[in-house]
Amino acid sequence: MSSRWTNRDDDEDEYLSQRKKQKEEKRRLRDEKQRKAEAEKANDLNIDEVGRLPKRLRTASPPQEDAPEVTHPFDNSTQSFGSSNTLDLYDVLNSIDEGSYGFVSRARVKGSGEVVALKRLKIDRSVEGFPVTGLREIQTLKACSHLHIVNLREIVLGGPSLQDVYLVMDFLEHDLKTLLEDMSEPFLPSETKTLMLQICSATEYLHSNWIVHRDFKTSNILMNNRGEIKLADFGMARYTGNPPPKLTQHVVTLWYRAPELLLGAEDYGFEIDIWSIGCIFAELLTREPVFQGKNEVSQLSEIFTLLGTPTTKTWPGFRSLPNAKALYPLLNTSTSRKPTLNAARFPYLTSGGLQCLSAMLALNPDDRPTAAKTLSHSYFKEDPRPKPKEMFPTFPSKAGQEKRRRRATPQAPNRGDAPKLEAEDFAGILKTAEHEPQGAGFALRMG
Ligand SMILES: Nc1ncnc2c1ncn2[C@@H]1O[C@H](COP(=O)(O)OP(=O)(O)OP(=O)(O)O)[C@@H](O)[C@H]1O
Ligand SMILES: [Mg+2]
Repeated sequence: MSSRWTNRDDDEDEYLSQRKKQKEEKRRLRDEKQRKAEAEKANDLNIDEVGRLPKRLRTASPPQEDAPEVTHPFDNSTQSFGSSNTLDLYDVLNSIDEGSYGFVSRARVKGSGEVVALKRLKIDRSVEGFPVTGLREIQTLKACSHLHIVNLREIVLGGPSLQDVYLVMDFLEHDLKTLLEDMSEPFLPSETKTLMLQICSATEYLHSNWIVHRDFKTSNILMNNRGEIKLADFGMARYTGNPPPKLTQHVVTLWYRAPELLLGAEDYGFEIDIWSIGCIFAELLTREPVFQGKNEVSQLSEIFTLLGTPTTKTWPGFRSLPNAKALYPLLNTSTSRKPTLNAARFPYLTSGGLQCLSAMLALNPDDRPTAAKTLSHSYFKEDPRPKPKEMFPTFPSKAGQEKRRRRATPQAPNRGDAPKLEAEDFAGILKTAEHEPQGAGFALRMG
């Protein structure tokens, strides 16, 4: 007898569950519509039809404040993605690498068969908002259009509820880090010149558009099998201005970090990128990162071993940097060093090349040349001339077949303030020099 009521309950249950489904579907459609509208509204943000920066950024000093740590891309239109496509348009082929901020894989465009790279941004679900590194990368890559900067094709959403964000980029067969490790011989001098010219031309473009990259390193420089370099990984990049806005200090992967940053400089400029490119130049010549400190202090120690300790004459401003205070009792009373950046250290480099390298690795940021000035350095005009890119050798691609080996290099820093260094942190910095092997004909000057 209970069936009547039971049926009624069943009917009602079914009715309610149907209503629920309908409501959910309605909500899903509404959300999707809203998302698409937001994305479309943002589609032309930061870039005009011909791929130039917005006028504000070309003519005036850019924003004066660092962006907030996290923010949600759909919170307001200035930070939306500008795409309503999804991952369904691509077939993922193989994983390439996992970096600090993303998972990179190779994929094929369904239909056209073109091969692309997908970078899925790492999003910490426990934190509300969207990582600022992702926003920065999207914002700057969308604003850039240059032969030697990786082309961002579009942003797509993926995952079960379209929560994952993918950057779709042109695929390049190599990054310089992996390539240098796998090559049996270093690049020829003519090849090194071509690579450096390409890196500097991308940098000149960025700097003249008020963008500072802040994470130059060999793993962020991609290369295709046509001898072309493309600068990538813009997670640390940001607009700057003159005078520079308040900037975060903890930027640039340790081995490529300029001495003024290690010494706690609060305002810094394009010179930090030039320093890192100097490190890359040295690495191209030897296939080894030039400074491989284990922490900030040992990084400074390695820098001073190669370049000598700064003096008020060579770097007038250095004593006023926050961490220099901890350093100066040692500089006054202990060991100071002479530079050992010389032909013995870089035997295949001409004196012109050595001069170019030393200028980029000037301790005093004011002494470093701009990217534009570097491009016109006489080193690039002397023999052997830069090799035409069409004549570059091709190399087997790791990214084309398998996951790239994780390399023993420090990770890109988390954004934030630089560590404050105290005198005791520096206690061993110059003492160790007495035990270190010395370059031919050079000795440490004591006192
Ligand atoms: N467009 C591309 N084509 C081919 N390989 C790529 C491409 N973009 C990135 N990669 C590979 O993926 C690696 C990681 O990419 P990327 O540097 O953008 O990620 P990340 O998480 O920001 O890394 P990091 O650890 O340097 O912060 C690169 O070093 C390179 O080997
Ligand atoms: Mg990287």
